[in-house]
Amino acid sequence: MIRFSHTYKTYPGPTHALRDINLNIDKGEFVYLTGPSGTGKTTLFRLISAFLLPSSRTVEVAGYNLSKMKPTDVPLFRRRIGVIYQDFRLLQSRTVFENVALPLEIRGERPGYIDQRVKEMIDSVGLYIKKDVYPCQLSGGEQQRVAIARALIHHPSVLIADEPTGNLDPDLSEDIIDLLDKVNAQGTTVFVATHDHDLVRRTSKRTIHIEEGQVVSGAKPFLNQPSLV
Ligand SMILES: Nc1ncnc2c1ncn2[C@@H]1O[C@H](COP(=O)(O)OP(=O)(O)OP(=O)(O)O)[C@@H](O)[C@H]1O
Ligand SMILES: [Mg+2]
Repeated sequence: MIRFSHTYKTYPGPTHALRDINLNIDKGEFVYLTGPSGTGKTTLFRLISAFLLPSSRTVEVAGYNLSKMKPTDVPLFRRRIGVIYQDFRLLQSRTVFENVALPLEIRGERPGYIDQRVKEMIDSVGLYIKKDVYPCQLSGGEQQRVAIARALIHHPSVLIADEPTGNLDPDLSEDIIDLLDKVNAQGTTVFVATHDHDLVRRTSKRTIHIEEGQVVSGAKPFLNQPSLV
C-alpha cells in the first residue's frame, strides 16, 4: 500500500532530509514512525501525500507511482488518502461542521449526503454538541479530533497522521489511538508519526524508526523487487 524504493529527498540548502529510504507497508497495517526531531518524519509524510516530490527514485501509494503522477491525477489520488497534519490546519473562519464538510464539498457531493455524513463523523469523535462552534473556541484535543474527522470523512484507504497525540494529555492520547485503531479495524491502512515514547513503549504494533533521514529499523523493504522506475 505504501512503498519507498531507494528514495531521496533533498531540500534547497541543501538539506538531505531523507536518504535511501526503503520501506513497505501492506494494506490494512497499523505502523508507527518514530525518530528524533528534524529527522525527516514530516518530509516522509509529505511525500506520501504528494505534497512533495522525491528528489530521486520512487514513492508508491495505493497503486499510484507518485514520482510520475500527472498533476491532473493528484485530486483523484488524494481521495484515497486522509491526512492529519502536525499543526491541525483547521480553517479558523469555518465552524467544526464546515471544516469537516470541506473535502466532500470539494468533491461536489450532494448537500443531503454531506449533512448526514458530516454529522455522523463529528458524532463519532464525540464533538456533536460543538459542531457549530469555531476552532478558536475548542481545546487542543478537540481541535485534534476535528482534524481526524476531516481526514476520515471520505473513507480513505490510507490514513497518515503526523503527531496526532502531540500536546495531548495521556487520557486524550489513548482516546485518539482508540479512534485510529477502530479506523484500522475497518480496513484503513494507518501510518502514525509520533514522539510519544510512552505510546510506543506500550504498543505491540510495528514501528519504523528513522534517524538523520535514514531508516534504522522496522522497514521490511522489498529490496529484491524491481522498482517502477
Ligand atoms: N521546506 C524546507 N526547506 C528546507 N529544509 C527543510 C524544509 N522542511 C524541513 N526541512 C529540513 O528537513 C529536515 C527534516 O525535517 P522534518 O520536518 O521532516 O523533520 P521531523 O522528523 O518531522 O521533525 P519533528 O519531529 O520536529 O516534527 C530538517 O533538517 C528540517 O530542517
Ligand atoms: Mg514533523
